[in-house]
Amino acid sequence: MTYKDILKQIEPIRKYPTLYTLCELVVYNDNFRIFPASQPDKPHSHHAYDGGLVAHTWEVIEHLKHTPNVDMDVLLTAAVWHDYGKIYDYYYTQNSDGKKIWRKSPHHDLVRHVARSYQMWVSTAEGKISTDYLDTIGHCILAHHGRFEWGSPVEPKTPEALALHNADMMSSKYGELR
Ligand SMILES: [Fe+2]
Ligand SMILES: [Fe+2]
Repeated sequence: MTYKDILKQIEPIRKYPTLYTLCELVVYNDNFRIFPASQPDKPHSHHAYDGGLVAHTWEVIEHLKHTPNVDMDVLLTAAVWHDYGKIYDYYYTQNSDGKKIWRKSPHHDLVRHVARSYQMWVSTAEGKISTDYLDTIGHCILAHHGRFEWGSPVEPKTPEALALHNADMMSSKYGELR
């Protein structure tokens, strides 16, 4: 799975060039393309390998792309952005053999990716799209963990936010079993 597979998935939003460009910013980011989606040294972590963030994002979109009666432009954009902040949750060092070792960063405990992904979304998209799109997509990003106790500051209030949460759960839970 590579970033190019995500570009194929988001073809339907090409009709909205601004949204598509906002998604491209994530997909073409060098760190997005190499980072894991969770902590490699933690047991039962999902997509915890180089490129895992791309693989997880691709799976989330696969799970949600046949959801009926939703705004698919909102959903696809939110899916691309939902875990982008993870590029601050981890960092890598090299061991004595030159092997790359991923580690959890202080950001993971102090900020964490849900808030960071939202902050990156707003700071990038504000002024470029309508307030309605800014907030409906922002809500999906903030609510993607589904519950307060699972790390979301708001719980899903729209069909798109609930669809993203469910798709995120499917990909992460299946990933933990692999
Ligand atoms: Fe997440
Ligand atoms: Fe995720």
